[in-house]
Amino acid sequence: MCGIVGYVGNEEAVPVLIEGLRKLEYRGYDSAGVAVLGKPGLVVRKAKGALKNLEEKIKVETGGSTLTAGSLANSVLSGTMGIGHTRWATHGEPSDTNAHPQVDVSGKIAVVHNGIIENYARLRDWLIERGVQFTSETDTEIIANLISYHYKGDLLQAVLDAVGRLDGSWALVVISVDDPDRIIAVRKENPLVLGQGAGETLVGSDVPALLEYTREVYYLEDREIAVLYRDHVDFYNDEGKSIQKKTTHIEWDAAAAEKGGYEHFMLKEIHEQPKALTDTLRPRIITADAGGVNDTAGNKGAVTNNAKKISLEEIGFDASWAQANRVMITACGTAWHAGVIGKYAFEHFARIPVDVDTASEFRYRDPIFNPKDIFIIISQSGETADTLAAMRMAKKGGARIIAITNVVGSTLAREADLVMYTWAGPEIAVASTKAFTTQLMCINLIALQFGVLRGTIDPVHLNKYINALEAIPAQAEKILSGKENIQRFASLQFNKNKVFFMGRLFDYAASLESALKLKEICYTHSEAFAAGELKHGPIALVDTSTLVVAICTQTKLFDKMESSITQVKARGASIAVITWEDDAESGRFDRIADEKFRIPRTEDALSPILSVIPAQLFAYYCSVLRGLDPDKPRNLAKSVTVE
Ligand code: F6R
Repeated sequence: MCGIVGYVGNEEAVPVLIEGLRKLEYRGYDSAGVAVLGKPGLVVRKAKGALKNLEEKIKVETGGSTLTAGSLANSVLSGTMGIGHTRWATHGEPSDTNAHPQVDVSGKIAVVHNGIIENYARLRDWLIERGVQFTSETDTEIIANLISYHYKGDLLQAVLDAVGRLDGSWALVVISVDDPDRIIAVRKENPLVLGQGAGETLVGSDVPALLEYTREVYYLEDREIAVLYRDHVDFYNDEGKSIQKKTTHIEWDAAAAEKGGYEHFMLKEIHEQPKALTDTLRPRIITADAGGVNDTAGNKGAVTNNAKKISLEEIGFDASWAQANRVMITACGTAWHAGVIGKYAFEHFARIPVDVDTASEFRYRDPIFNPKDIFIIISQSGETADTLAAMRMAKKGGARIIAITNVVGSTLAREADLVMYTWAGPEIAVASTKAFTTQLMCINLIALQFGVLRGTIDPVHLNKYINALEAIPAQAEKILSGKENIQRFASLQFNKNKVFFMGRLFDYAASLESALKLKEICYTHSEAFAAGELKHGPIALVDTSTLVVAICTQTKLFDKMESSITQVKARGASIAVITWEDDAESGRFDRIADEKFRIPRTEDALSPILSVIPAQLFAYYCSVLRGLDPDKPRNLAKSVTVE
């Protein structure tokens, strides 16, 4: 998410920055901006919306019909060094003010940033106490002012000092009026690449921004620092010691580079899940000694458990929410599947009645509202017409609304009482993957916090679940590292026209999402069944042409699953099982399954976050093998803003 470009050379910087940002548009964004070091000093221009809005703004100002060196030469935007950014909103909604670059109070230091600063609230208060007045809602403006605070004549040192105080993840590119010949770039957990052209040096958040200038790029590693000059780049480690780096030759063409070398956005987004899940979880978990959060009665939305706490303070969640008599969850499609899992999680962790409904049904029913109902509305885009209609109906009925969404400033985010962002980054492929698993992360955090506040989860269990949640990103990575196994299986099964997923409890909910993926991108007739329901009808469909994928992670129901699998196998179906690795109990499926996919052990209630990943990969590979475009399935739109 977000695109970063930095340029120091001999050309006018603005056209280079705009073209670089254009190459990064695929990453998704909601506003754009550039900062140039020119004759009058630091000049910043920003615009909400498409990059062309920014371009038009600059064209009008410089009097040119195109953005050329000639039209810029006599304007304040003339300069040969600058930084640019396309922003995907995190802190603060999309607006000109919140767009990057952000500038410190002196107007001398400009910063573009990709990532999330977790301790931004504390740093903001600290800077306010020292007289800093903020103009935006961004965490990035804090970074610009921290650098400014630490600046004692050496920009590199000031950046190092400021970065040393940040928690979270970042890719930062910094310029300063007082250091007019170099750009500083530093990263943690967000990509930055650098390239050297003839008399010019560039930095970008991805290779496409540099390809016009060079195919030899330096990948910056975590905590490394790059200092860009016109004719060379210096690299340092996090202690400020000089290091040598080797270039990598880029073979990809521009289109492949946009996808980070993956063949499709969907595959890229499936692989982004470990990082997305970390981004979703980490800001919401604090250790007891981290300070800054009250631990009594959950008044601040945080609860002590001697070791770790869930903190939903950031979203304004307080104990009053947990006094609800009933939770209602409403959403569409994949987000509704997250809601089904949410229902099971709430019942399990918080012992509270939950209704879950597709928004398209809910809005035309005659639902009964009670004053103490709370609504959880889930939507990746935050713009789905049915989902918004359901939310407005619930609001009218007097319910309080928590939104789970991926898009800052979306209609859902604006109209809900509380918003929990999934921080998954832009999802470009139509079929949802990382948005779904991060929605599950959010709903589990809310359900656990409800449980804590209602006294149904004790500190020991909370700790156990938090540890399990924290292990999930690495476990997801492990599943992805075995993707060839799923690819091989897909090569045997991709022509199947009848694929059923089945499971019980959380596995049934994961089956719903797994079947939808196959429908959407393979056009395969795939269905999900609660395994216990088979004998009430669906088993009549099973024959030798059927593939049945049994998701088996609910340990207490293994006997039942074994029996359901045996029944479909007896009717000639091919059987694949997704189950735990390293579990003596799950070994029983070896005997009856034609194919097994083993996933790392987590708590039974958290299993869908992991068990859906093999199904996502299976759908992806089947789609490719069928010669389809998994990113753009027929008849489907990414955001369904009409009924
Ligand atoms: C499935 C998918 C759709 C969406 C649904 C809701 O892969 O993408 O089913 O989940 O249209 O969209 P949002 O979450 O944007 O409300």
